[in-house]
Amino acid sequence: MKTIVLIIIAYLLGSIPSGFWIGKAFYKKDIRQFGSGNTGTTNTFRVLGVKAGFAVFLADLLKGTLATSLAYLPNIEVNPLWFGLCAILGHVFPIFAKFKGGKAVATSAGMLLGYHPLFFFYSLAIFLILLYITSMVSLSSMIAAVIITLSTFILPFILPALLPEQDWLLSCIAVIVTVFIFYLHRQNIQRLRQGTESRISFGLNKKP
Ligand code: G3P
Repeated sequence: MKTIVLIIIAYLLGSIPSGFWIGKAFYKKDIRQFGSGNTGTTNTFRVLGVKAGFAVFLADLLKGTLATSLAYLPNIEVNPLWFGLCAILGHVFPIFAKFKGGKAVATSAGMLLGYHPLFFFYSLAIFLILLYITSMVSLSSMIAAVIITLSTFILPFILPALLPEQDWLLSCIAVIVTVFIFYLHRQNIQRLRQGTESRISFGLNKKP
């Protein structure tokens, strides 16, 4: 019973549509009507600017972390990743925003932060390097998801200090989340193929 309640709480935490609410409350804008229409960090940066972008990134990240951390409550014997997955589902299909949410990236990162902080910082470094190289958040997110998933299989052999042993549930959830991220980025993939995907414009991009 307790577990079911926590699963619902994790989903509800993930459902908090921070981009949509911050846009409405502080900028009087429905973020879904602008830019890519996505309610996540990238579109918030694009439409509402750096301050709002960081706020949404932090909120989306922390709701994943908080949901994952529910597993650390006393007498709970559920792997934290399951709560993280519920938060990701809430983020993508938020009950508070007609089930139209983000693309799973920041909340998945939040899940990693709650589950394995060192692995989160490793993943963040991979993402930032890719972002520096490509200047495209969507492309960096997808490639990072693949590399992070592969890392869950390879790191125990080449860098056990980071991931000491094969964590099959982490690998399994990483595969699921990666497939999900690719599916949610299908319009971005189309724009990438057409050469029309937007690049970031907050200091890192090299081309207009
Ligand atoms: O995390 C979402 C990002 O990868 C792409 O966002 O707004 O460019 O579709 P957007």
